[in-house]
Amino acid sequence: MLVVFLNPVHPVEMQDFALGLREVGATVLGVGDTPKSALPRKAKEALSAYLQVPRLLDEDDVVRRTLDGLGGRRPERVETCWEPLVIAAARIREAVGASGMSVDTVRGFRDKQLMKERVAAVGVPVPQSLRVRTADQARAAAAEIGYPLILKPIDGAGSASTYRCDDPDELERALSRMGHVVEASCETFIDGQEFTYDTICVDGEPRYENVSQYLPRPLIARSQEWLSPIIVTYRDLSDPRLKPGVTMGRRVLAALGMERGYTHMEWYRTGAGEVVFGEIGCRPGGARLVDQMNVGSSADLFVEWARAVVHGQVQVGPDKPYLTAIIFKRAQGRGRIREVRGLVDFLREHGAHVAFEELLRPGTPRRDWTQALLSDGFLLLRHPDEDTLLALANKAAQDIQLFAS
Ligand SMILES: Nc1ncnc2c1ncn2[C@@H]1O[C@H](COP(=O)(O)OP(=O)(O)O)[C@@H](O)[C@H]1O
Ligand SMILES: [Mg+2]
Repeated sequence: MLVVFLNPVHPVEMQDFALGLREVGATVLGVGDTPKSALPRKAKEALSAYLQVPRLLDEDDVVRRTLDGLGGRRPERVETCWEPLVIAAARIREAVGASGMSVDTVRGFRDKQLMKERVAAVGVPVPQSLRVRTADQARAAAAEIGYPLILKPIDGAGSASTYRCDDPDELERALSRMGHVVEASCETFIDGQEFTYDTICVDGEPRYENVSQYLPRPLIARSQEWLSPIIVTYRDLSDPRLKPGVTMGRRVLAALGMERGYTHMEWYRTGAGEVVFGEIGCRPGGARLVDQMNVGSSADLFVEWARAVVHGQVQVGPDKPYLTAIIFKRAQGRGRIREVRGLVDFLREHGAHVAFEELLRPGTPRRDWTQALLSDGFLLLRHPDEDTLLALANKAAQDIQLFAS
C-alpha cells in the first residue's frame, strides 16, 4: 500500500510514525523540507521515496508539488501527525481520491470556532464563543460574553498568543499583542482542571484511549517560568473523575466524523464537576505524549497508529500497567546549561521508576520554554500507584534543578 506521509522529520516523533508505517508493510513517500542528504537515519530507513519541498507551511505549494511528485500514482492513504499539515493532507487526499477525511471534516478539527459549533450541535457543553477578526469585533464579543474571557487564535497551538482577560483593560492589552493574529476566538473563561482525551480511531471507533491531566493548566505553565509543568496519564479511565470526559470525547468524535488515526482532545472539569469541551485535533498530542502513553500501556503506539490507518486494526488492549508523569524542567538563568543539580540523587533513589531522562546536559544552550513545553528537558516516570507517582513527580519537580549562565 502506498502511503504519502507529510513531514517525516520534525518534530522528532514523526520519524517514529514514518517507521511505524513501514513496519506494518506500507510503501512510504515522505514529503518534507529537510534536504534529502540531511535526512536522519530513521527517516531514511522508513521512506521508500522522498520529496523535498521548499516551504512546508505553504499549503498550496505543498499540495501542488506532492501531486506533481506522485505523477499519476494513486496513494491509498495520505497522512500526517503534525497539526499545521492536516488540511494539506486532506486536500491531497481529495485530489487523488484516497480514503480518509475530507477537507470539510478536517476543518472541524482545526478551526476552534467550527469545532465548538459542531460539537455543541449534539449537546456537548462548550464555552460560549465568538469568532472575531478585528479589535472592534473583539470588544463587541467581550461585551456579549462578559469577563473573565479568553482570547486566542482560531488555529493556535501551544497556548501561543492566548490571553485570559479579567476586565476591559486586560482586553486592550491582549489586543495590542495580537496584531499578527488574523482570526481569533473570544470565549468564556472556564475555571477548572484541565485534561486530555486521546485516541487512536478506526473508522470513528476509538480503539485506544488515554486520559491525561495537565498540572497546572497549560496557559499557566506557559506564563510562569519558575514552575515545572507536569502531565500525568491515568490508568483507570472508568474512574469517576475521568469517565465523564471519556464519554464526552466519544460523542465529540462521532459529531466531528472522525475516521482513522490519532485524536487529541482537551476538556475542563469545573469545581462543580461539570465537564466542558476545550478543543480537539486529529493528530497525536505533542510534548512526548505518545512516549508517555507507550510507557503507561507498555505498547508501541507509533506502530499501532500505523496499523490503524493502514490495516484498520489496533493491537493493544485497554489495560494499562502504569500511570505516568512527565516533568518538564526550566533552567534558572540564561545562556547555556551550567549545572544539573539533584539528578544523580534522584536517579539513585528512584531510578527504577524513571522511563526516560532527557534533561539538557551542561554546555547545551537553553531552549525557549515559551516556544516548546519540552523546555530544558524532561523526566518521564512510571508507577502503578497514583499517590506514589504524584509524590515522585513533585519530588522531581522540586529537587532537580538546572542552572544556566
Ligand atoms: N475557554 C477557556 N477557558 C479557560 N481556559 C482556556 C480556554 N481556552 C483556552 N484556555 C487555556 O489556554 C490554553 C490554550 O488554549 P487551547 O484552546 O488549548 O489552544 P492551543 O493548545 O491549541 O494553544 C488551554 O490549555 C487553557 O489552559
Ligand atoms: Mg490546547
